[in-house]
Formats: sequence, structure tokens, C-alpha cells
Amino acid sequence: MTLKLLGVSGSMREGAHSARAIDFVLDAAREHGAETRMISLRELDLPMYRPRGQAIETDGVRLANELVVWAEAFVLASPDYHGSMSGAMKNFLDYYWTELAGKLFGYLCASHEKGLTVMDQMRTAVRQCYGWSLPYGVSFNGEEDFDKAGIKTPAVERRLRMLSRDLVVYGSLIRDQFRRDLESDTPETFVARYRKQ
Ligand SMILES: Cc1cc2nc3c(=O)[nH]c(=O)nc-3n(C[C@H](O)[C@H](O)[C@H](O)COP(=O)(O)O)c2cc1C
Repeated sequence: MTLKLLGVSGSMREGAHSARAIDFVLDAAREHGAETRMISLRELDLPMYRPRGQAIETDGVRLANELVVWAEAFVLASPDYHGSMSGAMKNFLDYYWTELAGKLFGYLCASHEKGLTVMDQMRTAVRQCYGWSLPYGVSFNGEEDFDKAGIKTPAVERRLRMLSRDLVVYGSLIRDQFRRDLESDTPETFVARYRKQ
């Protein structure tokens, strides 16, 4: 069975490098048999998160809800804003909790530095939701590593290809074990809390 991989671009900038890197990762993931979809938070324009009952329902919210439930693994890309993930990415993550559990996440960061704090913040938010993370991320400098045709730095391209492959391979393994644990009655697994009563 193919892995359903959702890319999320957290930049509000037109022509964002975050979105271009997501496109590259999703193209490569399809070569490994993944089914892919993409969300650009710039286009989705999600309202600021409000708790259930006070939520503002827009077409963007409905599409995000549908795709987050559909996805079995994610690649999140954020620009580095003051050493943090973008507000748009944090707002997107605030909408979800149990929907992210047991799914694998990979992280990208468009930064003039290394983007490590940005990717650590996304990893922390995902961990709080019981999602799994690849043990590395990929950062790039938009101006230096991209040109009009695409990615021009071979080392960045290699790392993005590696991340695509690892997301598909490890994402499938984790998805399959999560499903087995959901269907079993083993009490000694974090998955027990996600079983339907
Ligand atoms: C509000 C704001 C804060 C930023 N802070 C940083 C920063 O702390 N470190 C950095 O390397 N770049 C910083 N940048 C630059 C962006 O991270 C950089 O331009 C990035 O490539 C944009 O990604 P995008 O093309 O996906 O929008 C900042 C940009 C903005 C708008």
C-alpha cells in the first residue's frame, strides 16, 4: 500500500523557498511510491485557531481538516522567523492533536542560518501530539541554494532526496505498526489510548 504524504508550506511569501522545497520532496517521494498532497498556508489563509465551539469554519479550515486526517506522514517546511517557526505554521499545528498521533514527520527550514531552533520547535509541537519525527531535518538558504530552475546546491538536493526516501520507508513502517497496535488489545503501548472504545 502506498504512503499518503502531506506537505505543508508555512511561508506567507509568494514564490516561497519553503514551498519549492516541499514540491521537490513530494516529487521525490512519488518516485518511492507515495501518494502526495500539499497545503500552502499562504493560500489556505487559516483563521487564528479558536477552541471547538468557537471555531471559524472556512473552506481552508475544511480542506486542512480533510487532508490532515487523510495523511499518514507529513513534511513541514517553515521559514526561520526570529529563530522560530512561522506564526502560520504554529497556527496550523494548533488546530490538531490526536490527528497527528502515530504519524511520521520530516522538517525543512528556509533560513540564513541553520534553522535548528525552528525545526526543534516543530519537533516539540509534534511530540506533544504523539507524532514521530525523523532524527534530522534539512535547512537551506533560499538565495544561495535555489535558482530559477530549482535547487542548485548538490548537497541540499541530496539531503532532500534522503529525507523523501526516509519519510516513505519509515513512515510506512510506523503506520503499519500503529495500525497493528490499534487493532490489538495490548495495553503496553501508547497506541492504546487511540483505540475506539
Ligand atoms: C519576520 C522575519 C523574521 C526573520 N528572522 C530570521 C532569522 O531569525 N534568521 C534567519 O536566518 N532569517 C530570518 N528571516 C529571513 C527568512 O527566514 C528567509 O528570508 C527565508 O528564506 C524565507 O523563507 P521563504 O522563502 O520560504 O518565505 C526572517 C524573515 C522575516 C520576514
